[in-house]
Order: sequence, then C-alpha cells, then structure tokens
Amino acid sequence: MDVGEEGFRISGAGAQDKLIACMKDGQVLLPLNGTPSTHIIKPAMPDYPDSVENEWFAMRLADACRLSVAACDIAVIDGKRCYVCERYDRESIDGKVRRLHQEDFCQMLRVDPKRKYESVGGPGLKESFALLRALQLPASDTVEFLNRILFNFIVGNGDAHAKNFSVLYRDGVPRLSPAYDIMSTALYPEVGKRMAMKIDGEYAFKWITRGKFIRMADKLGIHPHVVKGEMDKMIRRVRHALPRLVAQATRRFPHRCYSAIADGIASRLSQLEA
Ligand SMILES: Nc1ncnc2c1ncn2[C@@H]1O[C@H](COP(=O)(O)OP(=O)(O)OP(=O)(O)O)[C@@H](O)[C@H]1O
Ligand SMILES: [Mg+2]
Repeated sequence: MDVGEEGFRISGAGAQDKLIACMKDGQVLLPLNGTPSTHIIKPAMPDYPDSVENEWFAMRLADACRLSVAACDIAVIDGKRCYVCERYDRESIDGKVRRLHQEDFCQMLRVDPKRKYESVGGPGLKESFALLRALQLPASDTVEFLNRILFNFIVGNGDAHAKNFSVLYRDGVPRLSPAYDIMSTALYPEVGKRMAMKIDGEYAFKWITRGKFIRMADKLGIHPHVVKGEMDKMIRRVRHALPRLVAQATRRFPHRCYSAIADGIASRLSQLEA
C-alpha cells in the first residue's frame, strides 16, 4: 500500500485505507502516467480484521438479492486476503479504458463531507429521494434506491451515509451508480447499533419495524402498497439466497463471520415480518 511514488495518487477517497490500481491475471498493476485505475483494493481494517470477508459477503448477498452492485471478489495479495472491487466509473472501448464522471450525494447536495452522516446535519432519506426526483432519474432508480435502504437495514449496514450513494454520468445522462461499500457493521456492537440515515425518525436497528418502513415511505410520497411489495420481495430474496451464500463463501474463503452476519440478518428479518 505504501508506494508513495512522486506524481502518483495512490489512495482512494474515503475513511478506510485503500489502493487504487489495475488488476490483470491476478497481478496488481500500478496505473502510472495518467492511466485510469480499474480496481479498488482494500486490505483488512486494523480494528476490524474480518472487514474483507464481511464486505465481500455483504456485497455478494446484495447481488444475489438482485441489487445493482459493483463487481467484487477477494484476492490473496502477498499472502493476505484483500477485498477487490472493479471500478464502475470506467468504460472500456477497444481495450482502452476511459473515465466516467460520478458524484456522490454529498457532492450533489453541496454538503461538506464532514457532515456525511444525518446525525451531524447531513442528508437523510428525504433529501436523498428529493435529489433523485430533481435529477429526473427513471422510476427504476428510485425503486432500486428504496431496495438498497431495505437491504442495508436487513444486512445491518450502519454506514450507508450520503457518500456511499452516487450518481454516474454516461453521455451526460445521470443514473444511480451501482452499490458499493456495503458491510454488516452490526457485527461490531461498539459501532454498529445505529443506521446512517433515520427510518421514520429512528436510527437504532433494534427499533425498526415494518410499520416504520411503511410510514417512512408514505412521508416520502411512496405508496404503502409499493413499499410493502418491495419489502416482501426483498425478504424472500434474502431468505432464499442467504444459506446458499454462507455455504459458498465458507467453501471459498472460510471465516466465522458469515454465520454471525446471518444470525443478525435473521433477527432483523423478523422485525420486518409483523
Ligand atoms: N466500485 C467502485 N467504482 C467506482 N468508485 C467507487 C467504487 N467503490 C467506491 N468508489 C468510490 O470511492 C469512494 C470510497 O470508497 P468506499 O466508500 O468503498 O470507501 P470507504 O473508505 O469504506 O468509505 P467510508 O468513508 O464510507 O468509510 C466512494 O465514496 C466512491 O465514490
Ligand atoms: Mg464509503
């Protein structure tokens, strides 16, 4: 991680240590002389040694539940497992990689990144849905966003703040970007009890109910019928995908965190099934 070459911007934005790089045939390549990077590589966080397996598992589960997510995997680099994610803000034409423009919700709403959490005055769901409307994104993006809110609650992701949602521009047209930076922070009791954005006035995972989601949607102008339907579909998808994914993940990269994450998910699912 510690390349530090002059003129080489090595670290990606965000709170966590990461390397922006290219990967080819399992090899990490450093993008020199203005070459666009194509991957983001995150080593395990010192305070959360299972962060690699946790993020990979949560992202794979999101994918299995039919959210649009950035492609990711675990790579063993220098004997250590790292979380590796493909950059969705790149386009390859005839083998040449081009950058696409993206802006996160803080940037779009002109909110200082220091205020990315709603609890310190940052954007909440009201501002986020209003942004999607102001950008005139297709209805499918609004439904996708609603599903991400549902999924983040279910998986126990308390870090879904306004910098963890972005808009991606292709030919000048904005769309909700694929999902990224999803992990089950609920696994870490010292930090993981609260969500980054309130659901019907409540941050604490343990007080969220089916009724809260329905009231939240109603306040945002989403018909209760829609949120109930999406919630039930999401619950079914998670129930269907979870056991298979725990088995698959355990086969590929054995770790005890998968079943711990699954236990948390089971209890939050029951909160949604009134
Ligand atoms: N797959 C991706 N493709 C393109 N850009 C990405 C991708 N994943 C993350 N990013 C961008 O990089 C930024 C930092 O990445 P990420 O959110 O994963 O890191 P983090 O350090 O865990 O963030 P946080 O500050 O939320 O803890 C994101 O805000 C987003 O703009
Ligand atoms: Mg982030």
